[in-house]
Amino acid sequence: MQKDSLILAVDTSCDETSVAIVQGLRVLSNAISSQIRYHKKFGGVVPFLAKRLHKERIDSVIELAFQRSGLNYSIDRPDYLAITVGPGLAPALEVGLEKIKELSALWQLPIIPVNHMTGHIAGCFAQVGKKKNNIEYPFLAVLVSGGHSEFIYCRKWGEYEIVGQTLDDALGEAYDKVAKMLGLGYPGGKLVSKLAEEGDPAKYELPIPMLRSGDYNLSYSGLKNAVRLFVDKLKEQNNGSLDRKMIVDLCASFEEVAQVSLTNKLQKILDKYEVGSLLIGGGVASNNKLRSRIRRIAKTHINKGLICPLNFKLCTDNAAMIGVSAYLYLKYVPDSVIKPDNISLIDRKPGMDINEKVY
Ligand code: KG4
Ligand code: ZN
Repeated sequence: MQKDSLILAVDTSCDETSVAIVQGLRVLSNAISSQIRYHKKFGGVVPFLAKRLHKERIDSVIELAFQRSGLNYSIDRPDYLAITVGPGLAPALEVGLEKIKELSALWQLPIIPVNHMTGHIAGCFAQVGKKKNNIEYPFLAVLVSGGHSEFIYCRKWGEYEIVGQTLDDALGEAYDKVAKMLGLGYPGGKLVSKLAEEGDPAKYELPIPMLRSGDYNLSYSGLKNAVRLFVDKLKEQNNGSLDRKMIVDLCASFEEVAQVSLTNKLQKILDKYEVGSLLIGGGVASNNKLRSRIRRIAKTHINKGLICPLNFKLCTDNAAMIGVSAYLYLKYVPDSVIKPDNISLIDRKPGMDINEKVY
């Protein structure tokens, strides 16, 4: 039997420098160098700092990916290169793309440009060791990250229907902003969620966004502002600061409403759409509470389990998901492959739509 193609993938869309090697859907290595500790003190990602750090690290992360995959950087060559071209931060995307173009010219290898959001979907297709998910089309993917919150319906790989999406802040972004308001640090999702475990989700009455909007869209900026009003009011009543009880209750009340708003829409979508598999991807997909809520809905609405990436590293930004997405394009949309002679046509696309062609 012919062996699956070997793909070297790079993602520098935000604040992780990541390089992976995949063979077909199998992840051989998934090296990630996080910049979080540098951005933390600014309360969010600083694009030009991200660019500088990607530049400093990319070569060593490539070598690490080779080493961890068991391949030899001096001898072995992949069959294809894959790169995230968008959406993401322009200065950050540039670094990965330049490096991949350099390798393509040096090794005379074709490039498969990848949309980061198809990568978050592909995180569910990634096989780790002997573990794999069994995904049936058409599938619905719930993508929840720091930059996006959307429901994507897919009948065949490469064609996506955005059934609903956030009209303003993404879910991860709302977590991050609430964390900032409460003085918890960056990124805030994990911190808010951990504290929420100790809190009372019914303590502060927050409005469920978009409850009667009649569509499948989401919105988190009103909820974020409602939390801010409570923070201001409580501070005023408590000599200018919040005590621990207030913080954990605010975290729990926010998380409850933010998640219920999403699961309400999800239920409505599943009532209408025929869905073979339900997938979840993106950084917020590592939230266990959200997973259990959605798992329950999957059970009652499609009588199946929820498909999640096989480890947490495949939820947040990583290059293995980009490699797996590239492999699926290679298989189902082969004209996505760009030969070394044409690589100058590939450009970064910071605001890229999931259905957008690369050129
Ligand atoms: O997918 P990702 O790594 O980057 C983007 O493409 O945006 O997602 C990062 C986002 C951040 O907003 C972070 O706060 C959120 O995912 N996040 C979480 C959790 N872990 C990460 N949000 C809620 N609960 C978590 N456990
Ligand atoms: Zn992401």
